[in-house]
Amino acid sequence: MAKRRKKTILVTGGAGFIGSHFVRMLVREGKRAVVLDKLTYAGNPENLADVRRGRFSRLMSFYQGDICNAEIVEHIFRKECIGAVVNFAAESHVDRSLLSAAPFIDTDVRGVYVLMEAARRHGLERFVQISTDEVYGSIAEGSFKETDVLNPRNPYSASKAGGERLAYSYWASYGVPVVITRACNTYGPNQYPEKVLPLFTTNAIDGEPLPLYGDGGQVRDWLHVSDHCRAILFLMEDGEAGEVYNVSAGYERTNLELTRLILAELGKPESLIRHVEDRPGHDRRYSLDSSRIRALGWRPKVSWQTGIRRTVRWYARNESWWRPIKSGEFREYYLRQYGGRLGLAQGRGGKR
Ligand code: NAD
Ligand code: DAU
Repeated sequence: MAKRRKKTILVTGGAGFIGSHFVRMLVREGKRAVVLDKLTYAGNPENLADVRRGRFSRLMSFYQGDICNAEIVEHIFRKECIGAVVNFAAESHVDRSLLSAAPFIDTDVRGVYVLMEAARRHGLERFVQISTDEVYGSIAEGSFKETDVLNPRNPYSASKAGGERLAYSYWASYGVPVVITRACNTYGPNQYPEKVLPLFTTNAIDGEPLPLYGDGGQVRDWLHVSDHCRAILFLMEDGEAGEVYNVSAGYERTNLELTRLILAELGKPESLIRHVEDRPGHDRRYSLDSSRIRALGWRPKVSWQTGIRRTVRWYARNESWWRPIKSGEFREYYLRQYGGRLGLAQGRGGKR
């Protein structure tokens, strides 16, 4: 009995974009997941609605709470006999980190500290810290390897670098079996529409302008959320403690190429594209060498064109998911971030 319960996996940030896909993957495999999520603006219980109502519902429990709160973390470790932690919980949007860095330092650094202390006290089979390719900074040519120097260039990526290095230090100092993943730009259903793909798709559906930063020639390396989650599950089970793993499918595309594909899929005109003032310190290109995880046997399955098209169609068919989000807190953020760039009147937010 005790052995079975020890298999419980604590998924922090499990009501967010990638975390919710990961929880679904776990329970479908018969694994028990305990979700701890603060439900910030980006956390959405709807992302887990099908799991809650479906035939695997008994395999998931949900706690609303902050990973910075040591009491709730301690309570969960005691009550649920946690065997592994996968830490997705984070402030995750670069543009918001440029508006205000404080919540990033709290969750993405201090939150990791609270989780690591609990892991150290209770003992774990695995702690997976979800980091990001952004910790390397920008690369003009070639691809980053796990051994390359970190050079984060915005408050989000600097906080993530701090968090993952702190997690690593608990492996090096106390033997907590930490595995760190650094994945590239992830896309798929249920992504909060502040990120480029859901923002541009939903704006295009409404005939609103698509605010492309600068010349749109920045390159991102695109990974479907299902491939990202399979990589995390794979590393949770077979990754080596103390190691870092890059995760990438190798689909490098400019933002302009992505924007054009979105518009083509929706049958919308390219006249919706607005080149607006660039993101400060905008990293020009991300590119990962993922040979380390591939050598263990992981491979991506979803091709770029198919994955992007399928995802665009998901947003077109699931307006009931994103319309309530875009009419809430999001409007305020949108005006703050894009009001000046798009010449929107304060308090109106452009065409609805
Ligand atoms: P997201 O913003 O959609 O979800 C984050 C989740 O964390 C939300 O549910 C939110 O409520 C929760 N959360 C935030 N602060 C919390 C706190 N203090 N305590 C508990 N829960 C809290 O993010 P995402 O895109 O799903 O990213 C998940 C993780 O993957 C992040 O760590 C991010 O840095 C990393 N990552 C994301 C991408 C990407 O392209 N989206 C790529 C690589 C790595
Ligand atoms: O690379 C991994 C990272 O990918 C993750 O760690 C982050 O959590 C995730 O948000 C994502 O970061 P990016 O900054 O790359 O994602 P975003 O969707 O914000 O932007 C993607 C590209 O599109 C980037 O070059 C900026 C550009 N962009 C973005 C927005 C929101 C625009 O041109 N206009 C926009 O309005």
